[in-house]
Amino acid sequence: MKILVTGGAGYIGSHTVVELVHAGYDVVLVDNLSNSSPKTPDVLSSMTGRALPFYEADLRDREALQRIFRTEKPDGVIHLAGWKAVGESVKLPLSYYQNNLMSTITLLEVMEEADVRNLVFSSSATVYDQAAAMPLKETSGIEAGNPYGRTKEFIEKMLRDTWEADKEWSIVSLRYFNPAGAHPSGRIGEKPNGIPNNLMPYLSQVAAGVREELHVFGSDYPTPDGTGVRDYIHVCDLAAGHVRALEVLSDSCRYEEINLGTGAGTSVLELVQAYEQVLGRPIPLKMVERRPGDAAVSFADTHKAVALLQWKPERGVQDMCRDAWRWEQQQAAEVLQ
Ligand code: NAD
Ligand code: WQD
Repeated sequence: MKILVTGGAGYIGSHTVVELVHAGYDVVLVDNLSNSSPKTPDVLSSMTGRALPFYEADLRDREALQRIFRTEKPDGVIHLAGWKAVGESVKLPLSYYQNNLMSTITLLEVMEEADVRNLVFSSSATVYDQAAAMPLKETSGIEAGNPYGRTKEFIEKMLRDTWEADKEWSIVSLRYFNPAGAHPSGRIGEKPNGIPNNLMPYLSQVAAGVREELHVFGSDYPTPDGTGVRDYIHVCDLAAGHVRALEVLSDSCRYEEINLGTGAGTSVLELVQAYEQVLGRPIPLKMVERRPGDAAVSFADTHKAVALLQWKPERGVQDMCRDAWRWEQQQAAEVLQ
């Protein structure tokens, strides 16, 4: 079975490609490299021992996409391509709607023309209403709080409508919680542009001495230690969840929304402690004001993923910190070469 992975050169896409090849799938990558390195497709070929076809193309380029479908004849698609920076989406909402929505619409139309109706979509826990009770269930209220999140909310609705209109489609929207860590080989991982927005890459840069100290956004939340609580999930566990979703898709025609998280909450200070244990030294930090728009707590109800995908994460926060640190050191070594 051949799977086209959009955004295959990105952070989650690259790990998903490795997992797919190991599970026996043929894999084709498409990415416009707007937020990823041109070296990644070669690294993936080297890691998997396969010459993986890579197309540098924008998903909004209909003709390019049609050519890829004609040449490669994929059986299904994992659609991870999109922009994901919350703050940037607030400043540039139309760019985000243009990129994330138009690329998905073009992809769906080209898939329909090519008679390919199996799709796994990268959604996000960011679609949930922040006021919803924890843990977040797939049936909890939906109300994204920023333009990026709304692109995911709208795409989910578009996918459901597509399936309602033609029940030959089989679509799963995976709502990721907080992906973290890197491949244990140290060869692929997350490479943020500029100052990282997310906690784990920021922590890694403080550990490496690239940044002076971690700013902990808020210490007065109604949580056990006052800092924000999230459901961090190892990127390799997340990648494995995509493979399971494909297997479920090939069984039946349906539309499903499924949380991919661990079901456990970790506070900022607990994550810092786990990182410090990996490093064997303290990480400098400073308590600062809350970041506007942040929820106090977010973690997944994982019952649906366990029941439907027969999938459970295998790695904990210490593994995420260890692998993120290995990746960070690998990056530093490359800069010195
Ligand atoms: P990433 O930026 O590393 O990967 C996305 C890839 O898509 C990049 O390689 C980028 O070059 C490519 N891309 C963007 N627009 C494109 C277009 N129009 N045509 C072709 N390629 C395009 O991000 P990631 O962390 O790997 O995220 C993958 C997906 O998962 C995204 O859709 C993101 O919104 C979603 N997601 C990410 C997180 C997270 O915290 N990382 C959480 C929830 C959901
Ligand atoms: C985690 C915790 C911060 C940085 C974001 C997006 C979401 C999703 C995943 C794509 C919070 C605290 C952070 C720092 C800190 N992406 N923090 N200092 O905000 O849960 O989710 O990424 O779909 O849409 O909003 O993740 O890693 O930014 O923050 O104290 O320098 O760490 O306040 O409590 P978040 P995060």
